[in-house]
Amino acid sequence: MTSRFAIILAAGQGTRMKSKLYKVLHQVCGKAMVDHVLSQLEKEDVDQILTIVGHGAEKVKETLGNRTEYALQAEQLGTGHAVMQAEDFLGDKDGMTLVVCGDTPLFTAKTFDKLFEYHEKNHDAATVLTAKTDNPFGYGRVIRNFDGEVEKIVEQKDATPEEAKVSEINTGVYVFDNKKLFETLHQINNDNAQGEYYLPDVIGILQSQNEKIGAYQMNDFNESMGVNDRVALSKATKIMQKRINEQHMRNGVTIIDPENTYIDADVQIGADTIIEPGVQLKGKTVIGEDCTIGAHSQIIDCVIEDGVTVTTSYLEQSTMHKNSNIGPYSHLRPLADIGENVHIGNFVEVKKAQIGKDTKVGHLTYVGDATLGKEINVGCGTIFINYDGMNKHHTNVGDFSFIGSGANLVAPLEIGDHAYVAAGSTITNDVPPHAMGIGRGRQVNKEGYYDKYPVAEAAKKIEKAENNK
Ligand code: UD1
Ligand code: CA
Repeated sequence: MTSRFAIILAAGQGTRMKSKLYKVLHQVCGKAMVDHVLSQLEKEDVDQILTIVGHGAEKVKETLGNRTEYALQAEQLGTGHAVMQAEDFLGDKDGMTLVVCGDTPLFTAKTFDKLFEYHEKNHDAATVLTAKTDNPFGYGRVIRNFDGEVEKIVEQKDATPEEAKVSEINTGVYVFDNKKLFETLHQINNDNAQGEYYLPDVIGILQSQNEKIGAYQMNDFNESMGVNDRVALSKATKIMQKRINEQHMRNGVTIIDPENTYIDADVQIGADTIIEPGVQLKGKTVIGEDCTIGAHSQIIDCVIEDGVTVTTSYLEQSTMHKNSNIGPYSHLRPLADIGENVHIGNFVEVKKAQIGKDTKVGHLTYVGDATLGKEINVGCGTIFINYDGMNKHHTNVGDFSFIGSGANLVAPLEIGDHAYVAAGSTITNDVPPHAMGIGRGRQVNKEGYYDKYPVAEAAKKIEKAENNK
């Protein structure tokens, strides 16, 4: 098989984004645009992938890591100049080279593959991927001769009014005969409206040298969308979101309102899980089968095992084991580990804590820096007091214990198995197994107090008035 190489252009600043962030690092469905491009190329059988970096080179490298090689374009003199920076890496190799921009996040591996195949089958010197659109403004136009062959590509800013009317656009993706690409790049100049070395000029030069130029027109313009500003970014996000949601639905996930469900590109979801409206699933979240993710929940980088129910809650960097449930309105902060069949009710916050199997934390509770065993009942309004203003301290609660409502558990603390904590206690010492810890003031009743109290007079008047009605 002919060797396959790929070059991703990612050195531009992206002035039209009006952003401190370099363009190709802007995210579409939780993933940098350039990462989308690379991820699709990785699905291909490509021998070498090279990314051209310049503006924000370090940040781009940080984002993509060692999944690609890098060449530096120190000055951004145009897309042709960018590809030239790859010469030291690829220049002397036989094979075909795909070039793609880092700001076209919607291309699929399937399209790249079709383009490679088309190019190889036709023995072209270069093949350009084109698309048709009613609104070609901003794109390079594909100019064909009377025989329908591609003659050249003209940029928006250089186009005559006639050329600007052409609806077939350059998607910015090409496959070249590798050696011819680098030979021809030496012949381009920057004599154009933007004073840049244009990669598409390679097509015109090859054509004028009677080389065979192919054009592969794709059906779906949307897939080729280039993102130059925030309006396009939101359009690309919509399209990607639809694609992601449809993929999950085809895999057996019920999404009640796909228009209003936001799932990042790398999220995994098992079959027969139901996703209610307004849900956001982000980062590397993995959700099992038969779960229900309730309306407006946000789940970020979590592992949710089979059969879990999340009701309108906010979960980050945490794990929920099988058949556990949470919510409404609860918050798992990083490193909460919720055991099998555990019930976390409403208005509960859990941080850096393991909660054992079958334990219940029903209402209005804070659990931080703690390890709870199995089959514990934590009463309403319990506070795990973990912070003394300087350091965090840990609390252990043993299996089958019962923590009464309104308890303050002041860490560090050991509460043994089968232990009780009396409601309303402030517990500062360990409670041994099978014991009850009680720490509160004794109740005193002051007889007749109500009648002595001045407001009682006012209350009596109101009572009287009510009775006379
Ligand atoms: C480019 C094409 C245009 C095509 C469109 C498709 C050129 C001259 N024009 O236009 O025909 O229709 O893409 O989306 O190629 N870059 C570098 N170094 C540079 C300049 C750009 O690496 O010196 C990178 C950018 O980071 C970006 C990509 O190349 O990822 C494309 O550059 P951009 O300025 O967005 O080109 P367009 O005007 O969109
Ligand atoms: Ca662009």
